[in-house]
Amino acid sequence: MDSSTLSEKLNNTLSSLRYGENPPELYEPIRYIMALGGKRIRPLLALLAANMYKDDVENLLLPAAAVEVFHNFTLLHDDIMDKAPLRRGQQTVHEKWNANTAILSGDVMLVRAYELLLGIEPAILPKVLQLFSKAAAEVCEGQQLDMNFEQRQQVSIPEYIHMITLKTAVLLGFSLEMGALLQGAPEADSAHLQAFGINIGIAFQLRDDLLDVYGDKAKFGKQVGGDILSDKKTFLMLTALEQADESQLQSIKAWRHKTDESITAEKVKAVTEVYDQLQIKQQTEQQIEVYFQKAMQHLDAVEVAENQKTDLRNLALQLMEREA
Ligand code: IPE
Ligand code: IPE
Ligand code: MG
Ligand code: MG
Ligand code: MG
Repeated sequence: MDSSTLSEKLNNTLSSLRYGENPPELYEPIRYIMALGGKRIRPLLALLAANMYKDDVENLLLPAAAVEVFHNFTLLHDDIMDKAPLRRGQQTVHEKWNANTAILSGDVMLVRAYELLLGIEPAILPKVLQLFSKAAAEVCEGQQLDMNFEQRQQVSIPEYIHMITLKTAVLLGFSLEMGALLQGAPEADSAHLQAFGINIGIAFQLRDDLLDVYGDKAKFGKQVGGDILSDKKTFLMLTALEQADESQLQSIKAWRHKTDESITAEKVKAVTEVYDQLQIKQQTEQQIEVYFQKAMQHLDAVEVAENQKTDLRNLALQLMEREA
């Protein structure tokens, strides 16, 4: 099946989901965030992985949707934590309603995600639930580290990579692994697909960090400069801290802990200037390429015909160049 047909099936499945009705204050924000769409890459990865083994992917549609609902749940909570005003070009749920609403609607989305997995063939269900639960807890671990790092002066690049592996990459890895598992793929293949997902996920988050500084707000759909404002220890920031001379270091440090919105533009400008001087954008792009290549090695090792891998390869390539 070609990837546009898969996308269409996925979108139909997602728009057919019913989350609940009453009280409407609980369910309306869910319909809102899900209707904003997004790239839907996680369920697409699951379907593309599955499609390498069987042309029929009907059994994957609801499990893939589960991952997307889970992802959107994490976004609701992430936007509270990050004080983000914009998501997919629209107001975040906690801004449009309030933080309590975003918390509770998010909670019920997590429950719905589990329910969507329950139709999986009984023989494989426990394994999928176990892997999903592991990945879900790791996302929380990564999110906590992300917040811990905001408060820390020193974070190493390996610590950062560990943090983004947890908060972002493991869910991509899980999506691919689930796709393979549900089609009865050999264990070695599902392990390579998971590793492909992890490395693509790391590259994906590096790209996200880059776009947070250098993205176009209209395309990116999120506040540009948000990571700088909240002192996120991104790859960009950590590389700058490592390479800055005395005056550049002072310039960055002077802005630390100043997170008031009134100074956003000034702070973002000052820090971006240092990034520009140090060619941080180019260095981040090089790092993205490193993880992309690692990902490709794992995809190469998957034992299916080369033409069966084309869609996954293309999606991975698109993600490395994404603007949104
Ligand atoms: C946003 O994920 C959170 C990150 C891991 C960077 P996406 O970039 O996949 O967001 P949507 O779902 O396409 O909006
Ligand atoms: C988000 O990382 C990871 C999760 C949602 C778990 P970010 O905080 O960078 O994601 P965006 O930029 O808000 O989408
Ligand atoms: Mg975050
Ligand atoms: Mg965020
Ligand atoms: Mg981000």
